[in-house]
Amino acid sequence: MTRAPEIEIGPAAEAGADLVVAAAFIGETPGVDGLPRSIAEALGRLAARPGWRGADRQKLQTEAGSDGPVVALYGLGKRPETNGRRVDEWVREALCDAATLRASRVAVVVPPGSALATAGGERFGRLVARGTYKFERFRNSGDEPPGRVEAVRLVLPEEASAEESAVAATVAGAVAFCRDLANAPANEANPAWMDERAAELAAEHGLAHSSLGRPELEARGMGGILAVGAGSENEPRLVRLDYDGGGGPKIALVGKGVTFDTGGISIKPSADMDEMKYDKSGACTVLALARAVAELALPVRLAVYVPLAENMPDGRSYRPGDIVRCYDGKTVEILNTDAEGRMILADALALAAEESPDVLLEFSTLTGASVIALGQDAASLYTPDDALAGALLGAAEGTGERLWRMPLWPEFVERMKGDHADLKNSSSRWGSANTAAAFLSRFVGGLERWAHLDIAGGAYVGRDGDEDPGATGYGVAFTVAWLRGLLAAGGAAAPGARAEGPGAGPRAGSAGA
Ligand code: BES
Ligand code: MN
Ligand code: ZN
Repeated sequence: MTRAPEIEIGPAAEAGADLVVAAAFIGETPGVDGLPRSIAEALGRLAARPGWRGADRQKLQTEAGSDGPVVALYGLGKRPETNGRRVDEWVREALCDAATLRASRVAVVVPPGSALATAGGERFGRLVARGTYKFERFRNSGDEPPGRVEAVRLVLPEEASAEESAVAATVAGAVAFCRDLANAPANEANPAWMDERAAELAAEHGLAHSSLGRPELEARGMGGILAVGAGSENEPRLVRLDYDGGGGPKIALVGKGVTFDTGGISIKPSADMDEMKYDKSGACTVLALARAVAELALPVRLAVYVPLAENMPDGRSYRPGDIVRCYDGKTVEILNTDAEGRMILADALALAAEESPDVLLEFSTLTGASVIALGQDAASLYTPDDALAGALLGAAEGTGERLWRMPLWPEFVERMKGDHADLKNSSSRWGSANTAAAFLSRFVGGLERWAHLDIAGGAYVGRDGDEDPGATGYGVAFTVAWLRGLLAAGGAAAPGARAEGPGAGPRAGSAGA
């Protein structure tokens, strides 16, 4: 599996880097505060070249002294009103270049006044994971092996706390872990394989692991997971991880783990169906979060629930018209076997809610409608709790991830009432991300502090996206930021607390999305 580079945040170390990258908007100079003199001088020389303007994608390169590092200066174009995303984009681009240049230790000089300079470690950790990650496990590399960045330092004028560096490194590792799992193809990553990865993770990080197979699911009446998994040779599972940070708020995480979604009997069209290997992304997100929480030893009690199934058409598949009884006893009339995510989540959410967590977050690639509404790199947030919404949106703004709140109006629940059962699993196409969320709201046992995050947009980049296709690790960074903010604000006493203060990093603040 992919190992993320080492990460440090703080003033430039005297030695070590073999590549230093800096950037400036048009009419501005790169920040050189606190840089070793030879590097500051090299940057000064580059910025003084007659051709230098700072134009978008302009790139100049030199060496600092005779045996010093390569120093590269990038143009960012005209400073936009909010510069956060442009700077993030540059960090990713520069880290990709670093691999091409065969640099192994890279120093990233933060442009003055950028969001990255004031954000918590989560933002940089996510960027490092995005800029250095490659899914190459299945490639026979005939030519030169690709370069690998081993260590990245975010250069700031002042020393950041050791905690921020640790958070950045943990988030980078967790994002890479999430992407590795989500990118795994469905002929390898079936429910049993995902369970093995979860068990491995648990063994490495001191978490408790348990898993229910078909007989146990039957004994507990988990009809949703069983129905969706019925058409596959690969049996469904419900995996659970527990972490006890010695008390603290009780956090439940649930993640959709459909290892492949053909749609089942209501089969999908062939175009882009391969992307449905990413339909386990929610599961990968919550497993990665368990890893991050354990690694940072956060003082929380965490329970992670991962329902896993493969949605296939077969003689044993569940069918439209079937009526399924879920774990909490509610019956659901199946109108579309492609609305399978909510069926496996119904069981997992009801189980999670039974233990009365202080907060429950659920991640799922639930609807195409969410992607149509918000685009490929944004996710939908649904929660009845305004404070929780504010905290999650604030955390996402801080890490540079696109998250947008959507409505849970009562009429959406009305539309999901069944003709022959308590509920139906699909209604008209209008607002179908909202009706899906309303359906899920019926399974949280009256809990108020819960949120559904539809990450169908965000979780992966498709073939027609702006970046290399593949899983992104969306949601890992801001959820860590949210949790740290929650803990800093007093844990369970204030579960909706905004991601501010020391929890989101001493440098939390300006978001600059
Ligand atoms: N896994 C899909 C949602 C999805 C679609 C994720 C596109 C990523 C990209 C989900 O199981 C699904 O098929 N949803 C249906 C629901 C409908 C049948 C009510 C959808 O969105 O069309
Ligand atoms: Mn589906
Ligand atoms: Zn699905």
